[in-house]
Amino acid sequence: MDVIDAVNRRMSVRAFKPDPVDAGLIRDLLEAAARAPSGGNLQPWRVQVVGGAPLEALKAAMLQRVASPDPTEYDVYPANLWEPLRSRRFQVGEDMYGALGIPREDKLQRLQWFANNGQGFGAPVQLFFSIDRRCGPPQWSDVGMLMQTFMLLAVERGLDTCPQEFWSHYNKLVDEHVGLPEGHMLFSGMALGYRDADAPVNNFRSRRAPFEEWAELKGF
Ligand SMILES: Cc1cc2nc3c(=O)[nH]c(=O)nc-3n(C[C@H](O)[C@H](O)[C@H](O)COP(=O)(O)O)c2cc1C
Repeated sequence: MDVIDAVNRRMSVRAFKPDPVDAGLIRDLLEAAARAPSGGNLQPWRVQVVGGAPLEALKAAMLQRVASPDPTEYDVYPANLWEPLRSRRFQVGEDMYGALGIPREDKLQRLQWFANNGQGFGAPVQLFFSIDRRCGPPQWSDVGMLMQTFMLLAVERGLDTCPQEFWSHYNKLVDEHVGLPEGHMLFSGMALGYRDADAPVNNFRSRRAPFEEWAELKGF
């Protein structure tokens, strides 16, 4: 598979088949993904992979705790999101709920759908990416590079993913069940598994801003 094909096929999958994923394959993918660059080669990431009984226990606990999130350790979005970021966020929500057939007025159903995050959208594996609290924005971006490299490599092996900052709202719960590394804060979870291609939520494509809106070529 060409890289461009993996880039184009990767999407945030929000409905998975229950089929298990081989632990050896996950390890291989993570080891390969660790070729991702990081400033000063700090490799500031820590990753925990959870499946089987511990994941079932975490998901069961999430069902009890979903209505009482933990205090977050960072802001997932800046306050009072401005344009054009605000509209982009709004649009992807509308596109997703449109695919699901849940209207804007149906706040309860939208909330119930959102809670699916805590069940990993049915994925058999959940990854947790954390970072040393002493790190700053450059190291956060390094963790993002590891995540994206992993997601592309997963696609090459027929797997799908959904990165999930959702879990940062339940960082204490994750810590209780997974045991985050000492001094680390949870940045993001990630669901991993095989996509349910028939699920309507997997059949919309998020949009992208036109090139001219965010890039300039000068001196060519
Ligand atoms: C760090 C990060 C965290 C995310 N957290 C969530 C999440 O908690 N739940 C969710 O459904 N999608 C989450 N997403 C997926 C984004 O909504 C998605 O990447 C974006 O809408 C673009 O769509 P695409 O991934 O299908 O291309 C996250 C993405 C990133 C990069």
